[in-house]
Amino acid sequence: MASRVQENTPYHRLGTEQWPGPFSLSNVSTATDDVIARHIQSIDATECDLYSEDGVWIVDFAIIRNQLEIWERLLPRVKMFYAVKTNPNPRLLKYLVNHPMKIGFDCASHTEVAEILSLSVSSDDIIYANPCKAPSHIRYASTKNVKKMTFDNTTELYKIKAHFPDAECILRFKAHDPTPSNNPSEGALYELSKKYGVTIDYSREILLQAKKLGLNVIGLAFHVGSGQRNVRTYTHHIEEARRIWEIAREVGYTFTVLDIGGGFMYSNFEEAASAVNTALDNEFGDMIEQGGIDIVAEPGRYVSAPAFTLVTSVIAMREGKEETGEKRMVYIADGLYSNINAAFWPGELTYPTVVKGRRAYTAKSTLPTSSASSDSGIEVEEEDNGSMDQEGGFSTFMRGGLQEYSVWGPTCDCMDIVIEDAVLPKGIEVGDWFVFKDLGAYSFSMRTTFNGFRTSHKIYYINEGVDIDVI
Ligand SMILES: Cc1ncc(COP(=O)(O)O)c(C=O)c1O
Repeated sequence: MASRVQENTPYHRLGTEQWPGPFSLSNVSTATDDVIARHIQSIDATECDLYSEDGVWIVDFAIIRNQLEIWERLLPRVKMFYAVKTNPNPRLLKYLVNHPMKIGFDCASHTEVAEILSLSVSSDDIIYANPCKAPSHIRYASTKNVKKMTFDNTTELYKIKAHFPDAECILRFKAHDPTPSNNPSEGALYELSKKYGVTIDYSREILLQAKKLGLNVIGLAFHVGSGQRNVRTYTHHIEEARRIWEIAREVGYTFTVLDIGGGFMYSNFEEAASAVNTALDNEFGDMIEQGGIDIVAEPGRYVSAPAFTLVTSVIAMREGKEETGEKRMVYIADGLYSNINAAFWPGELTYPTVVKGRRAYTAKSTLPTSSASSDSGIEVEEEDNGSMDQEGGFSTFMRGGLQEYSVWGPTCDCMDIVIEDAVLPKGIEVGDWFVFKDLGAYSFSMRTTFNGFRTSHKIYYINEGVDIDVI
């Protein structure tokens, strides 16, 4: 696979001289580039078919295969339970179910558990990893014998006692960044510990409660936060896990499961895996040697993010005035309420590549002239072909001048902003396309129908040929 630009290149506060381009589309994969070209060429702006401007997804299974191979090589002792919430695309799930690595699944609700069971996955290969479950969902899990479930409060223990007394409970403890920072390019993109987990100090008390209720607690779980850039957090929390392991022994539990959660990214995976391996050797080496411990993890983003690319078009423009510092405003077919929920989270969205499409609405396209001014008096901009690079049959804006833009989603809500301060190539027009790579996590599963927009999109699947679906 071709080398890639840095993951999550921050776009905020970039001056023109710091613009991280030029971006070649081959940053994703050549197969993906071919499909982008094919899709853009297939759209005839003059036909104006309903929804032809909408975002489409391109999924390259070679990237997923590669991610799994790397995991198996660098973390052979850690069984993967893919976090379904990250991206429950049915073909992705099927692919993972059939993969020889024997992947398990982390589910967060009744629907996710039911979906995974419907794919003939054994109930033993599911962790119901939501520490605060609806009682009826616990009851459902009991009917399906999905025993492994996390908890972090005593009320949850009462609920489990009432509806699934044979459950195999896993105590979730609170993760915290040992070196917290306000810098959006450090730490975790999403700090899950704000919501879940017991402190070490409270762990003895809650385990005593579980013991009193006669519940079976089999192990520990933590989550260092989604998109964790500080790999030392793994070291730190594996050390803490060992301390709670001892507390559990004193309470009368012999734990057998250590769930190191998610947080993994592809960009720092080697470092993260190395930190995990060293900490496991240091803290749990004896138990690993004796075969007395199952180490599991719940990666989601690591698997799904890099394989999914979104291509979405410019549907409207508002010219800014450079003299007054007004930015040019670009409106694209996807936004915060559709596939680009990532826009809400600093550091989550990768910098887009812009591809030239068919432009049916520029002054130049509508006026029968190629001169710099028309008979009607409308100023017509000469196209700056020097700024276009031809790649695989389509043009990307790779060189030439840059200008400040704001990039907006299609709904009428002013919150629906994709990039507030973007430095992008000059001359973007309606009909051009934005390509967002690495968008497979927490994206298409978060689409809404807000403002009447659709929650179905065309998807190109690349896996020994290209298959198209709408989902
Ligand atoms: C319990 C649990 N496990 C795994 C994940 C996935 O983690 P990541 O996004 O870091 O891959 C999440 C994300 O919210 C989670 O809540």
